[in-house]
Amino acid sequence: APAAIIAPSILSADFGNLGADCSRTISQGADWLHVDIMDGHFVPNLTFGPPVVAKIRSHVAPPTESHGKGTFDCHMMIAEPKKWVKEFKKAGCDLYCFHYEAAHSSAAESPETTSDRKTSPRELIKYIHDNGMLAGIAVKPSTKVDVLWDILDNANESERPDMVLVMTVEPGFGGQKFMASELPKVEELRRRYPDLNIEVDGGLGPGTIDQAADAGANVIVAGSAVFGAKDPAEVIALLREAVNK
Ligand code: DX5
Ligand code: ZN
Repeated sequence: APAAIIAPSILSADFGNLGADCSRTISQGADWLHVDIMDGHFVPNLTFGPPVVAKIRSHVAPPTESHGKGTFDCHMMIAEPKKWVKEFKKAGCDLYCFHYEAAHSSAAESPETTSDRKTSPRELIKYIHDNGMLAGIAVKPSTKVDVLWDILDNANESERPDMVLVMTVEPGFGGQKFMASELPKVEELRRRYPDLNIEVDGGLGPGTIDQAADAGANVIVAGSAVFGAKDPAEVIALLREAVNK
């Protein structure tokens, strides 16, 4: 599996001190920032949009290489992912991770794809790449991972995701209980794709990291476990060691 990438979720940061909290977590050893975007529609919660992301960007140096330190990993829990691609690129997003479930419904917006809904995630990935970002595709607990085989096996380079996100909670809120029931998805992805970046998000921390790492996850999101820790640097190091061991 690829090396560990630790991505604290800023959903658990102090929103009144977001710039400082974000630059601090990077200096404490974080690789990426996981930026949760919620629209109150795809999920029953709201966070923030491009102006806030742009403000954080001014506090955190952008990555100097693809997937490098400072990458903004934007987790788009929004019903219309295609609509926001250009705005988030402008705001400083590096990796645009949309939900498979939302890409399917957004096919209705572009008439040329309505006849073949399955091609919609591919088109969206190509569009994200064309706009200069890495592309991720996320699956909710209720979505079978099998829906991804076609795109991972058959898509050409520009339509292939750079990362798959397996949700280990129902998206919408930080601080929820880790769902070990989702780990077989990670295991099967890792068995099939040894080099794929596989991200897990929800309920990750010192008590659950070993299960996720053993299943094959290498991109680790942790919100409450990092921002709520007495010593965040220690938690970040512990998560990294569990993956790289
Ligand atoms: C949940 C978000 C997560 C969340 C994780 O919908 O996608 O990124 O912040 O929070 P913890 O790590 O506290 O479960
Ligand atoms: Zn997230």
